[in-house]
Amino acid sequence: MTQKADIKWSELRFSYIECDYRFISVYKDGKWDEGELSQGHHISIHQGSTSIHYGQQCFEGMKAYTTKEGKIVLFRPDRNAARIRNSCENLLMAVYPEEKFIEAVKKVVKANERFVPPYGSGASLYIRPYMIGVGENVGVRPAPEYIFGIFVTPVGPYFKGGLTPCHFVTSKYDRAAPRGTGGIKVGGNYAASLLAHKEAVDAGFADCIYLDPATHTNIEEVGAANFFGITPDNTFITPKSPSILPSITKYSLMHIAENSLGMKVVEKEIPVSSLDQFSEAGACGTAAVITPVGSITHEGKKYAFYGEGNEVGPVTKKLYETLTSIQCGDLKGPDGWVVEI
Ligand code: PLP
Ligand code: COI
Repeated sequence: MTQKADIKWSELRFSYIECDYRFISVYKDGKWDEGELSQGHHISIHQGSTSIHYGQQCFEGMKAYTTKEGKIVLFRPDRNAARIRNSCENLLMAVYPEEKFIEAVKKVVKANERFVPPYGSGASLYIRPYMIGVGENVGVRPAPEYIFGIFVTPVGPYFKGGLTPCHFVTSKYDRAAPRGTGGIKVGGNYAASLLAHKEAVDAGFADCIYLDPATHTNIEEVGAANFFGITPDNTFITPKSPSILPSITKYSLMHIAENSLGMKVVEKEIPVSSLDQFSEAGACGTAAVITPVGSITHEGKKYAFYGEGNEVGPVTKKLYETLTSIQCGDLKGPDGWVVEI
């Protein structure tokens, strides 16, 4: 077994720690090269690259976990492969074939095995695949060349405290347009979120909640995570909108809620004015895992959830335990969810 890196795993936060290898493949003259593992933390690209000027880039976020038996596993990598394909197609970028995407993810995780946090440490190896438009250019048009890269870094909780309620405020800004790029994972959405995030944090909140960009009346996303609410009659409700990123974690939770917890699951519009219907609420995503939403403040009114917003509700806890147990191999999930490296 590989000797693990000398890292205090339980103290990790969501930040970049240098690992040994990354994967890079280059698309040129209409085809991808073989791709290879290399060392380093920088890349050099043409100054006219479309990714620099026109935001022609996209990325993914996924994690690797160590099981009790010491195996390294991925969670639903086929979904990330499909989502980055969709993002690339939307931005007229070259597509990296889905099977090769999974193969490359496995390769780079294996090469950085000593950075995969041990079972039970509460940390995981964050995997960041990305695609950027590169090459000589100045006009607004698809790039002549592309770089597909993957780097990894061990991480702890995205929101402070892990499974601790966090408090959020609705934003006056939009991260995406009604018929824009909200449903794909492109950098522009995140650039548009920086000011909204800063204003929320400056006002003492963990992050902001985005409302639907067309009417500003419905809940959309919780920072870089999806939203769900739980009603006292055991229904899992999550927003439906084309400007929300289709979260792999959310769709997994919907499956768990329905099939393991016997809950009713509904995807529909959630007006802010209906937040009182929820006894519990949460944010979910690869980085956020499940972060309990303690409260949402909207136009000065505070909607608090379980335990007046200070406690983790029983359903949120059960969802968290079931999801994380599947992810680290303690509990058998549906076929194909957990993929061994
Ligand atoms: N929403 C946004 C805006 C995100 O950046 C993410 C993170 O990937 C999510 C939701 C959650 O998606 P997933 O569960 O696939 O990580
Ligand atoms: C993820 O959850 O993987 C994300 O991409 C969220 C954020 C770190 C951008």
